[in-house]
Amino acid sequence: MFKKTFIRESQQGDSISIELLYRDAFPEEDLLPLVKDLLQETPVVLSLAGFIDTSLVGHVLFTTCGIAGSADRVGLLGPLAVATACQRQGVGSALIRDGLLRLETAGVKQVCVLGDPAYYGRFGFAPETDIAPPYPLPAEWREAWQSIRLRPAAPPGRGRLTVPPPWRQPALWAP
Ligand SMILES: CC(C)(COP(=O)(O)OP(=O)(O)OC[C@H]1O[C@@H](n2cnc3c(N)ncnc32)[C@H](O)[C@@H]1OP(=O)(O)O)[C@@H](O)C(=O)NCCC(=O)NCCS
Repeated sequence: MFKKTFIRESQQGDSISIELLYRDAFPEEDLLPLVKDLLQETPVVLSLAGFIDTSLVGHVLFTTCGIAGSADRVGLLGPLAVATACQRQGVGSALIRDGLLRLETAGVKQVCVLGDPAYYGRFGFAPETDIAPPYPLPAEWREAWQSIRLRPAAPPGRGRLTVPPPWRQPALWAP
């Protein structure tokens, strides 16, 4: 039985817990500079924290991006982290579902992610070929570029994703 998970937008006072969380969830990858830079990108970045009881055990960022030559707004999901001791308890799923709902309410039609299809496929993400990532992906990562359409009746986005400065680092888009 899952414990009750609570999701809310992150606040200034969460920064130490978020830092500890990323060190724990990504011991071999330093995503903190990216996370900290994205957290400065309000209002285009939505930052959600997930709690079990009063402990911050999960965090996700959604960046609202554009498509070159179009007025479309497209979300970009990531990074996403759940404390190792609290994984497989539904926290990651709750963060994703809550974020997708908020973006849909805000009028975002589609959300992209670069991640494991085995995980993101659970939420309805499918391989994306019409929206190009900001940098060409290596062949072994092509399957990892996915999107979900929040308003299926709206025409899908087409073109290259335009991202705010923190995402403009080729190293983030290559193994
Ligand atoms: C990936 C991650 C965010 C998932 O969060 P979580 O809270 O454990 O996920 P949930 O409990 O909501 O969902 C877990 C389900 O997804 C599955 N799952 C978890 N990680 C998975 C993965 N990488 N690939 C496929 N399935 C995965 C679990 O098997 C579980 O399925 P089950 O309920 O049928 O057993 C978390 O494991 C994590 O932080 N990992 C380290 C950091 C990372 O890899 N982040 C990835 C995004 S950048």
